[in-house]
Amino acid sequence: MRIPEVRGGLRSAVICGAGAWLPPRIVTNDELAARMDTSDEWIRTRTGIRARHIVSPGMPTSHLAAEAGARAMESAGVTEIDALVLATTTPDRPCPATAPLVAHKLGLTGRPAFDISAVCTGFLYALSVAAGLIASGAAAHVLVIGAEAFSTIIDPRDRTSGVLFGDGAGAVVLRAGEPQEPGAIGWVELGSDGSLADLITVRAGGSEQRTAVVPQQPADAYFSMIGKEVFTHAVKHMTQASLTALNHAGWRSGEVDLIIAHQANLRILHAVSERMDIPRNRLVVHLDQVGNTAAASIPLALAHAQSTGELFTGARIILTAFGGGATWGATALTWPAIKVE
Ligand code: COA
Repeated sequence: MRIPEVRGGLRSAVICGAGAWLPPRIVTNDELAARMDTSDEWIRTRTGIRARHIVSPGMPTSHLAAEAGARAMESAGVTEIDALVLATTTPDRPCPATAPLVAHKLGLTGRPAFDISAVCTGFLYALSVAAGLIASGAAAHVLVIGAEAFSTIIDPRDRTSGVLFGDGAGAVVLRAGEPQEPGAIGWVELGSDGSLADLITVRAGGSEQRTAVVPQQPADAYFSMIGKEVFTHAVKHMTQASLTALNHAGWRSGEVDLIIAHQANLRILHAVSERMDIPRNRLVVHLDQVGNTAAASIPLALAHAQSTGELFTGARIILTAFGGGATWGATALTWPAIKVE
């Protein structure tokens, strides 16, 4: 590893590249309505989602992650990475972690690589851990990827979850830098509440199932969610975490240019912006095209916002998410001058 000398204590992690990748296959609401009891109108009015990208056969999460990771490294102009952190809910296999395989695909064999499991908050957890690796001097460049093949854990008969989720991957490269630089990762507010574990879950496939006194049901192999309760907790925790992150940054709500929130549901995004007293037109909305892509959602939304021109150099942005666990998080940063691939 090429670790620059640490002068004057801890270093900051600074975003120096970003990239994203979506599987080419697009599934519209009408296509879903043709195979399950739902409609474009129901999906659009309840969620804001119009379409989502879905993986094709032979395209596991590691494929998506490597595509996004390669683009982020190209954007950063780096070929050397000291560590890879992958946030995912849908690893290629329950064991081992997917990150070492992604590192291998990217020509980074030998570097530390590990998965983070925090469902839709995964990217913010990964960002925080990666920033810690840089701050401690353990790494100078870290590749942070959020990647999901979420469609693979959805029960094809479940119309409630089936319409919400999509697949994709996004990534950023962090480098060692100074806290005042654009792109510097400051305070990352993170939290969890395990008493809410049943709100968003895949019950089977782990030690709980293998030690179960009462055998589990076939449906337990799939994702399940208590949507209404998730909605309430998501709004509350994303708002609180964002306000705390704003406080750490020393910004008032009115100074925020963009909220780049986990793209779960348009109504959740609207509720968060209202509670934060930030106008709706400062919300980045990408879920209409990709649905909820869990850990990939925030880096995909960053890439989307940069491509539309909403995200500009120097923009003051809030990143926030809520997900299974329950987990939540938020951070405030100034967007750097980078080209997103
Ligand atoms: N198409 C048509 N009807 C559907 C449907 C679908 N895809 N899914 C559910 N319904 C039906 C329900 O069966 C119910 O019918 P009923 O009134 O006859 O019982 C009706 O629509 C209302 O269902 P309900 O669950 O009350 O809807 P809702 O307004 O709460 O919306 C969610 C459901 C899932 C869209 C909403 O709760 C939500 O977005 N929650 C947050 C989910 C989320 O973002 N999770 C990820 C966070 S990380």
